[in-house]
Amino acid sequence: MKIGILTGGGDCPGLNPTIRGFVMRALDYNFEVWGIREGWKGLVQGIVEEQPLTVGRVEELVSQGGTMLRSSRTNPYKDPAQLAAVKQNIGKFGFDCIIALGGEDTLGVASKLWKDGFPTVGVPKTMDNDLSETDYTFGFDSAVGVNVEAVDRLRDTARSHSRVIVLEVMGRHAGWVALYSGIAGGADWILLPEIPLDYEAMCAHLKVAYARKGYCIVVASEGVNLPNLDESAAKLDAFGHVILSDRNVGETIASEIEKRTGFETRAAATGHIQRGGPPSAFDRVLASRLGIRAAQCVHEKDFGKMVAVRGTEIVAVEIEKAVGVLRTVPLDLYETAKTLFSK
Ligand code: F6P
Repeated sequence: MKIGILTGGGDCPGLNPTIRGFVMRALDYNFEVWGIREGWKGLVQGIVEEQPLTVGRVEELVSQGGTMLRSSRTNPYKDPAQLAAVKQNIGKFGFDCIIALGGEDTLGVASKLWKDGFPTVGVPKTMDNDLSETDYTFGFDSAVGVNVEAVDRLRDTARSHSRVIVLEVMGRHAGWVALYSGIAGGADWILLPEIPLDYEAMCAHLKVAYARKGYCIVVASEGVNLPNLDESAAKLDAFGHVILSDRNVGETIASEIEKRTGFETRAAATGHIQRGGPPSAFDRVLASRLGIRAAQCVHEKDFGKMVAVRGTEIVAVEIEKAVGVLRTVPLDLYETAKTLFSK
């Protein structure tokens, strides 16, 4: 069996450990695994590695962030010529199956290819943690770890200077990263895309917390709905998503807090720092198990599936279901978290 493996979309810690896990198990089945460069772009342009992946190439990957195969946000279904090239190149390289490591967009392409008759298996990757059918995606835990360290550091400055500091974090249209970073960092308010932004309630609470301790920390998701924001001219990526960092959520919220409370307020953002560096131990284990399970799917010819974690089990689910609906933060979880920033 000849297998092509690719990583698409934003990089995140866990991609390399997944590749390692996949190759290690694939070799048990005597499969040949070929690295496709830069996500779906590699299949559009016909760029694969010169040799199949070996133990030597992958054995040290467990601690490495990023992706050894490189990534892109190429969407071949946007352009019939690109799609034709993908299909032609799958045939040219003689791939029996494509393994796609990615989020909603990359796996959306894998799902469509499967419907078009090409065997695919997906592995859920995204720091946003917003894929359905899986309890977690790798990259999320590592990103939250970076943000919690950032909050701990910002607290020192906030306290020293009697300031409010707003930390803007990624996560797109799901608030998982902000919620977990805010809870674990001990934020005084957390803003999520799922919850309408209520400046009045937030500033009233910040005044109470500030009166007690002389500083405050707010964690805000980049996808928070800002009142009166005109996004009609916003820049879009290849999958049609608004580039959220352009919205300046942190700065906008910080200036509104300063205006309403009179407290000196600053904004900070962890940005792409959240996606770099070594994977957390949790992500290393999750990614390794998902990679191994994906190779088992190929062995069992269980295609059109995405491997997933449910509780403590690794299972295989329909890719189509995983990419159909965005998994957002349930209201009751946010309400529970509010206990921690209501006094
Ligand atoms: O989907 C992952 C993610 O990091 C989002 O949280 C963020 O909005 C986006 O990617 C940033 O993308 P880029 O790397 O293209 O700036």
